[in-house]
Formats: sequence, C-alpha cells, structure tokens
Amino acid sequence: MARVIVTSALPYAYSMPHLGNFVGSVLPADVYYKYLRMKGDDAIFICGSDQHGTPIELAALQKGVAPEQLADEMHAAIKSLYDKYECGFTHYGKTHTPENKEVVYSVFNELYRNGYILETEDMQAYCNVDKRFLPDRFIQGTCPYCHTKNARGDQCDNCGRLLEPGQIIDPFCVVCGKSDISFVKSKNLALDLTKLQDKIKAFIKENSKNNWSKDAVNKSLSMIKQGLKPRDITRNMKWGFPVPLAGYENATLYVWFDAVLGYIGITKEWDPKRWRDYWQNEHTQLVQFMGKDNTIFHSIMWPAMLIGSNLGFVLPYTLKISQHLTSKEVKFSKSKGVGLNMRNALEIMPADCWRFALMHSAPENADSEFTKEVLEETVNTILNDKIGNFVQRTLKLALANKALVEGGVVPSSEKKVAVELERYADAFDSLQFKKAVAALVGLAEQGNRIMSDREPWLLAKAAKNDAKAAKEAKDVLSSLIAITYALGVMLHPFTPEASKKLLAHFKVGGEPTLALLGKTIELDIEKEPHPLFAKLTQKELEKLQKYA
Ligand code: MF3
Ligand code: ZN
Repeated sequence: MARVIVTSALPYAYSMPHLGNFVGSVLPADVYYKYLRMKGDDAIFICGSDQHGTPIELAALQKGVAPEQLADEMHAAIKSLYDKYECGFTHYGKTHTPENKEVVYSVFNELYRNGYILETEDMQAYCNVDKRFLPDRFIQGTCPYCHTKNARGDQCDNCGRLLEPGQIIDPFCVVCGKSDISFVKSKNLALDLTKLQDKIKAFIKENSKNNWSKDAVNKSLSMIKQGLKPRDITRNMKWGFPVPLAGYENATLYVWFDAVLGYIGITKEWDPKRWRDYWQNEHTQLVQFMGKDNTIFHSIMWPAMLIGSNLGFVLPYTLKISQHLTSKEVKFSKSKGVGLNMRNALEIMPADCWRFALMHSAPENADSEFTKEVLEETVNTILNDKIGNFVQRTLKLALANKALVEGGVVPSSEKKVAVELERYADAFDSLQFKKAVAALVGLAEQGNRIMSDREPWLLAKAAKNDAKAAKEAKDVLSSLIAITYALGVMLHPFTPEASKKLLAHFKVGGEPTLALLGKTIELDIEKEPHPLFAKLTQKELEKLQKYA
C-alpha cells in the first residue's frame, strides 16, 4: 500500500474556472485519486483556492471591498462548484490562512538562513496620484509589439506576449486612470536559482523516471541548460503575506511563492497533526497535476524552495502536465468572465456527462479540440448507447428471468473482465487516463457483442423447457452481470454518480474497490433499473451556441 499525496494546481480565486481549466488539472487529479482509493492506497487529495495576486487586489479595489473578503467569497463559490462536479478532495482549502502563513514563513526563513535569498534592485512603476506601486496589471497601455491598447503590465492579451511594466507605451494607472507615473528604484527579494540549479537538475533526472509528462522534462531541462537566473519572490503590493524581513514593508511575498507552498499549508489546515505524516515522510509519493503553463513553477521553483529550505518535505514524485483543450466553436474565457465555464456548463448536461466527455477527449499528451460533434458522439454513442444501454438491458433481463440469476458471480473470473481490468489498471498506474477510458469502453463493447451474438432473451425463453438452453442462458447472464458490475466499478473515477446508481443494484455496500471484483457479488433482482444517462438533444446541443 503506497502513501500518496495527489494535488491539483490551485485554481485562482478571481474567476469561475472553465472546462479547459477543469480538464487540465482538477479533473484528472480527482479521477486518479478516486482510482487510488479503489486500489486501497493511503492517498489524500489536496487542492484549494490560490487567493493572492494582483487580479484579486485590483478587483477588490474596484468593488470597494477588502481583498480578503472578495477572495473568500470567490473561494466559497468555486468550492461549491467542484462539489457539484463530485470532486472528492480530502481537503479543498485556500492559501490565505494562518496555517499556510506558518509554512510559508518557515520555508522563507530557512531559505534566507541557508543563503538562497538575494536582494535585487530595479525600476518599478509608481503612481504619484495613488502613492502606490503598480505591479503587473495595475498598469495598462499600448503593447510595444502588436500596438493594441489596454495591454496589461505583465502581458498583452491580444498577442499573448509577456511584458514588463516599463515596456508599455503611454502607460496609465488602472486605479485612477491617470498617467502620472514615475519609475522609481525599488528593492525586491529573489530566490537564487543559480545556486540551486545542480540540485534541481539532479532531482529532475532522478524523479522524472516516475511517469513525468515528457513535455515537462524537456522544458525544464532545456531551461536549466540555458542557466537559471534568480527569480523575484516579492512584489510591491498590499494583498499577500507581508515579507518577514525589515526593509520590505511595501512588499508582500509573490503569489507563486505562497501558492505552491499552499499544498502543504492546505494539508496542515486539513489536519494539524497528520499533515506531517504525509509531507515529511520519505516514502510518500507526491503526484502533481497541472496545466502546461504551470510546469516551470512546479519543476524548478517549487523543488528549489523545498531543496533550499531543507525541512524534509517530499519532492514531487510525478508531474503530470496537461496540454490545452481548444475550441473554435465555443469560448472558454477566464479573464473576461464570458464563455462556457463550469457553472453554465451544467445547464447543458449533468456533471457526470461532462466528466466523462472531458476525460474522453482530454488534452493528455497533445492539445485537443472540443467540438459539438465530438461531444455528441461521446455522450450519445459511447456513454448512452454503448455503456448505459448495455447496463439497462442486462439489468432488465435479469429482472425478467430471476430463476436464471441465482447465486452470485465473481467478476474477475470472467475472462473479458480480467483482460480489460488489467488494461485499465496498467493505464492508471502509468497515468494514461484515456487508455483507461478505452479499456472501460472496450469492456462495454464486449458486453454488447455477447448480447447480440448470444441473444440471451431467446435463450431465456427456450430455457423454460430445455435444460441445455437453461444452462447456456445462466452462463450468458452471469457473464453479462459480471461485466455490468465491473463497469460499475470502472466507471467510478469518471462518472461517480452513475457508478453509485449502478452499484446500488448489487448486494455490496461501501465504496467500490478493485478487490471486490475478485469476490462473489450478488445482484439485487428486485430492484427496478433506471437509465444511467440521458442523451443530449439537439436543443441542448444548441445551447452551446450561446457561448460561441
Ligand atoms: N493559480 C494558478 C493557475 O490557476 C496555479 C497555481 S499552482 C500552485 O494557473 F501551485 F501555485 F498553486
Ligand atoms: Zn493612479
């Protein structure tokens, strides 16, 4: 039994996550965690809201509320949304907590003591009207590359380039709208990655053997090859944890610094005693999920912080990186609050269907394109026709032929189940979730084949006055029931609601486990089955156009 910490990149608390964010990190992490539980591992699943950063400070300022209040309101809204999608976090916490602050300060202090924190000095934008520094998106103006207006101090949304506030043409302060801006000399603190690069490299070489996404390894090693430079870990802004060092009263720790440490802080918030059993235990496997944009922070910065502070926290064992879910048909927009997000997606179909459809087309190893056709095919043909319909027919047949379904079945002694189950487990153990979906669909297809080749309803009819037919009917039915139960278990990580509904037809209680597949399982033949899923109608599909 392995001890595992599963994490998903902490979603920013400043907007409703969209489906692309969900499939990129929280969803695969949740699917994997549910699998580990079925396998019987000692796993915890940690995630939470990334609450600091300039967008929240700015939005709070514009709304006239305290950043903490806004961040907490958003946190509550996002958390309840993940509940609707049946995410089974051990704890969904947040970064602005006393627990996280303690973790952050202890790591900061050790890094400082060990000589890994440097003072840097550069020119920073300052608003003479508001008497404050203007980090990142607090300053806007014309993009020096594509010349569109309203480029932000840290990035241009039009051409996507990363910017420095000093590069902006005709800059203005977003708070007061004026251009009375000076660039003044200012101190910041940086993490000395140069000093740590050999250790980081050795760590990547060693741990990337554990199923790291190739992309993450290549990107990180090539960055190290070019030589790592010190990276700022403070910002001249108010919202965030104050820098625990004299002379930095204008600054707070940079959002990234306390966000990655949030994994630990949130675990501490979950359980003030047990968090150490997971984090300070060399046998723990830390398996981290994230979108590709977050790679470097997890493969370089975060290990650098852990190595440099030397507090005995585990380093990432696996980094599983998602590519992008793209779409020409609908808009997933995060920053502008428009488009198909996790909340309005539920107006189109239930959470289970989204979970399955998203994992079926997950951008696991390459970008993947979200289209209406693919969605229709996945939900209507695969989920409904292949899986839902098979299960429904089997349960109805059993109900109509109670005498033929006496005693139980041992699902894994059915060859087809054993084969697909092995494919499923191998896929999960190598974190290839689309292959796990394929094994599950493969099993349903085999069930459908038995159904059409052996025509059990005819065998059941003949069974009434033919002993040979009766034996055959019983055999076929028990194969179908074994497959049905196995599907119920295998569906659990992907469609937990449907899995629960299906498994309720069997006389076994508790959470589904892989071990149960090797036990004798009995069907409850008195229970009337109801369809597991519903097809998407044209009307529902048309709702997608609202988000075009
Ligand atoms: N909030 C970031 C995002 O949504 C991810 C932060 S990951 C963490 O892209 F490790 F810093 F938490
Ligand atoms: Zn101003």
